[in-house]
Amino acid sequence: MPAPHSFRTAALIITCYILMGPGCSVSCQKKTSCSVQDGRADCSHLSLSAVPQDLPRNLNSLDVSHNRLRGIPPESLTRYPGLVHLDVSHNSITKLHGGLCETLNLLQTLDMGHNQVLTLQMDDLIHCTNLTHLILASNKLRLRGEPFSALESLKFLDVSKNSLQSAKLGSQSQLPNLVNLSLAFNPIKSLKKDDFTLLSNSTSLQVLNLTSVSLKTLDRGCFQPISSLRTLILDQSNTGTLVIAKVCSELSGTAISALSLRYMKLVTLTNTTFSGLKKTNVTFLDLSHNAMGKIEKGSFQWLPRLETLSLMDNNIKHVTKDTFQGLKSLKWLLLTRALVKSRSSSTPIIDDFSFQPLSALESLILQGTSVQNITEHTFKGLTNLKELDLSCSSYASLNFITNKTFASLAGSPLRMLNLTKAAIRQINPGSFSVFIDLTILYLESNFIRQTLYGKEFEGLGQLQEIHMSFNNQQINLSSTSFVYVPDLRVLTLAKGLIATALDREPSPFSPLTRLTVLDLSHNNIANIKESMLTGLVNLKVLKLQHNNLARVWKSANLGGPVLFLKDTLKLTTLLLDSNGLDEIPADALRGLKDLQVMSLASNLLNPLKESVFNDLQSLKVVILPKNLITTVRPEVFKVPLSNLSLLIMGKNPFDCTCESMLWFASWLNTTNVTYVPGLREQYTCNTPLTYFNRSVLDFDALSCKDMTPFQALYIISSTAVITLIVTALTVRFHGWRIKFYCNIVINRTLGFSDASAEEGREYEYDAYIIHAAEDTAWVEKRMVPLENGRCKFCFEDRDSVPGMSQLGSIVNNMRSSRKILFVVTESLLRDPWCRRFTAHQALHQVIEASRDSVVLVFLQDVHDYKLSRSLFLRRGMLRPCCVLHWPVHKERVQAFHQKLLIALGMTNRLQE
Ligand SMILES: *[C@@H]1O[C@H](CO)[C@@H](O)[C@H](O)[C@H]1NC(C)=O
Ligand SMILES: *[C@@H]1O[C@H](CO)[C@@H](O)[C@H](O)[C@H]1NC(C)=O
Ligand SMILES: *[C@@H]1O[C@H](CO)[C@@H](O)[C@H](O)[C@H]1NC(C)=O
Ligand SMILES: *[C@@H]1O[C@H](CO)[C@@H](O)[C@H](O)[C@H]1NC(C)=O
Ligand SMILES: *[C@@H]1O[C@H](CO)[C@@H](O)[C@H](O)[C@H]1NC(C)=O
Ligand SMILES: *[C@@H]1O[C@H](CO)[C@@H](O)[C@H](O)[C@H]1NC(C)=O
Ligand SMILES: *[C@@H]1O[C@H](CO)[C@@H](O)[C@H](O)[C@H]1NC(C)=O
Ligand SMILES: *[C@@H]1O[C@H](CO)[C@@H](O)[C@H](O)[C@H]1NC(C)=O
Repeated sequence: MPAPHSFRTAALIITCYILMGPGCSVSCQKKTSCSVQDGRADCSHLSLSAVPQDLPRNLNSLDVSHNRLRGIPPESLTRYPGLVHLDVSHNSITKLHGGLCETLNLLQTLDMGHNQVLTLQMDDLIHCTNLTHLILASNKLRLRGEPFSALESLKFLDVSKNSLQSAKLGSQSQLPNLVNLSLAFNPIKSLKKDDFTLLSNSTSLQVLNLTSVSLKTLDRGCFQPISSLRTLILDQSNTGTLVIAKVCSELSGTAISALSLRYMKLVTLTNTTFSGLKKTNVTFLDLSHNAMGKIEKGSFQWLPRLETLSLMDNNIKHVTKDTFQGLKSLKWLLLTRALVKSRSSSTPIIDDFSFQPLSALESLILQGTSVQNITEHTFKGLTNLKELDLSCSSYASLNFITNKTFASLAGSPLRMLNLTKAAIRQINPGSFSVFIDLTILYLESNFIRQTLYGKEFEGLGQLQEIHMSFNNQQINLSSTSFVYVPDLRVLTLAKGLIATALDREPSPFSPLTRLTVLDLSHNNIANIKESMLTGLVNLKVLKLQHNNLARVWKSANLGGPVLFLKDTLKLTTLLLDSNGLDEIPADALRGLKDLQVMSLASNLLNPLKESVFNDLQSLKVVILPKNLITTVRPEVFKVPLSNLSLLIMGKNPFDCTCESMLWFASWLNTTNVTYVPGLREQYTCNTPLTYFNRSVLDFDALSCKDMTPFQALYIISSTAVITLIVTALTVRFHGWRIKFYCNIVINRTLGFSDASAEEGREYEYDAYIIHAAEDTAWVEKRMVPLENGRCKFCFEDRDSVPGMSQLGSIVNNMRSSRKILFVVTESLLRDPWCRRFTAHQALHQVIEASRDSVVLVFLQDVHDYKLSRSLFLRRGMLRPCCVLHWPVHKERVQAFHQKLLIALGMTNRLQE
């Protein structure tokens, strides 16, 4: 049931949109205003319907593309008279206003692509004499009269994708400076004799773009007015071989030099297709992506000056000795994927002597091709070949290379041979002996499985680079492996060697005294000899990462650590990551004064010996993350870190103690020349516990400083002074409270109580109740009923002594009450009377009599701070049983009464 399902999907999307809609500006990071930088304003994608008027006046470039403009009235741009570049593409503009160029008289580039401009006439562009680039692609242009006649400076005109039926843009001579004209993607069927006459006085036109213009007929002489044309692009145009032939004959006598015929379904080339180019000087021909299967013999005989021919991505089945006949100037031949084997077709064939006509060829690219056989004659005659690329190919003949495989290149001065991914399994002695000039040999990513005894490279006396990495770790070396290539500068053997390949003496590298780069990484090598690099005095880059060299540098190694770097004193880059190294011998890096990059990531290093890095004065980059480094002390690191531009040392279990980290932490905090990526996140303390997982930057360097006697004295004396001041102030303002606390503390600790003395004295009331007027109702409802013969409360309203002043009465009644009970609510704390007098009086009473006799009943939760501020009381001053809370739950009221009675108990004696 697709319909309901899609309906549900749509509903879901709409719901999401409604929910997410406003948040979209956040989640999509959508632009909401123009960005202005260096006189350029970018106002694209803002749903604008007019040019913004709030931008700086001195703009020279304005981009208002991808908006909703319906027009660009010149008035909207009067603010920006300095504009040189204006992009109004991807809008809905229907008319180009004649006043635009008048307002913007400096305008050089106007992009009006992807709009709705319909008619274009002379007035519209009459003032645009300074314009050099005009893009009107993807509109609906209908030209009236001579719209472009005023464009004297125009160099680039793009009217592609406009449904133009004709290439004729005018009839009078105009556009004297036009260089590049694009008529691409217009349904032009024919080129008439006078189509380009408007350009007859222009000798500057160089490029004509007719991409996807499917011509059917051409008038004789149609290109005559533009005979200065150099580049013609006919890509994707669906014209047959015959029309191509016609185009070529029309180009006869022009200055044409480059022809692009890509994606044209040009399945066959005949011996006449290019015959019209005989009287031209075409040097560049691109025939790629044509599914071309057949090239008739002699097809290229007309192109004696051709220098570059691309036949990339075609389906050529057979190359014969006549295919390239006549291309005697050809220098670059690109046959990348031009000969391929598909499931339905047989493997293509290159005949013997096929390349013989190409005596000038310098570069032959056969990348990604598949060919049945390479014989002793395949490459015969390539007497100038410098580069041969057979990479990514599948030639059965390359599986086992012998002295016959490349015999046909005997006379070629080849410099570079690319045999990357060529499915090579074995190289036999003398295979490359014909390449006496070869300097670079790529043998990467093959399946070479053999021991190299040396003769494989026989004759390569000039060879400077062998790239042999990624050979499935099946290559073994011998002491003579490289005796025939003494000039070698670069040797890469990453992921290519068997683990024991280097375990021999003399070292395979000993003849390579000029070697500067040696890559032995990813080989799982465990054993090397101290003499491995002996004599390699020029070595600059040594890559040994991802091997297994831990034992080699162990002090416990039988015969001591292997100091294999003692001869390579010019080393600038040393990579030893992921080797399981847990120590570096004290002299391992001795004398490496030029070393700039040292990488030891992902080892097990710690601790490092003092001065182990001391000779490395030139270090610029140190990479040491993911080790077990705990301490970074100046004895080890001062020299290597002194002149660094990059340090990567995070993810180590740093010990943030003064001894281990003080120096490093302050170095990190003060360094401003060294870039330390991930400083906050990756440099964290592992120990001690107090710093665990915190950044090394948080390490408190001050805590390490020894306190000098003066500092101690200063701190002691200032502490004393402050204490004195505080004490004096406290005594002055809170003396009574201190006295109160003292009394209570003394009473509690020594067990004294004045209760016994007072016990005898009869009190008139059990408690004097202090409450706010607002709480009267509660008191009457909850307290008064308690009296009930069991006890007697004193309420000021009820029990004031007749005839006495109010104050006197309070004092008197308090005296005759055993306890003083506060009904604490926010109202009480606010009640000025309670606060100012009653409470004070109560307290004085308490303090004077030293009675431990205050009871607090909280009807609301009141913060202790407020309590002390208003009533000068704290919960802590009272025994816990004297602090009561009115319960929220009804069933607890009984228990509350019980507690209250206990608090008002007949004795003031401290209860245990
Ligand atoms: C062309 O640009 C110059 C400055 O480069 C200016 O003086 C002149 O007025 C402009 N011409 C027109 C027709 O706008
Ligand atoms: C074109 O050039 C010819 C001669 O070179 C000249 O007579 C003619 O006036 C020019 N036409 C225009 C429109 O400039
Ligand atoms: C020719 O024009 C098309 C369409 O505008 C464009 O995509 C192509 O890049 C142009 N070709 C060259 C070589 O400029
Ligand atoms: C083209 O090939 C045909 C035969 O296929 C031959 O008769 C003719 O002479 C050739 N023309 C040229 C110019 O090579
Ligand atoms: C081709 O080049 C030659 C020599 O450079 C020159 O004499 C000849 O005029 C050129 N042909 C064309 C059509 O430009
Ligand atoms: C390749 O060519 C050689 C010599 O021409 C021939 O001996 C051999 O059989 C050919 N191999 C294949 C697979 O065609
Ligand atoms: C050699 O061939 C490989 C694989 O096609 C390619 O990536 C590499 O760039 C080529 N090397 C040179 C120097 O052209
Ligand atoms: C090629 O190698 C074979 C032995 O593998 C040898 O007999 C022959 O002479 C060598 N040919 C050349 C030209 O070196």
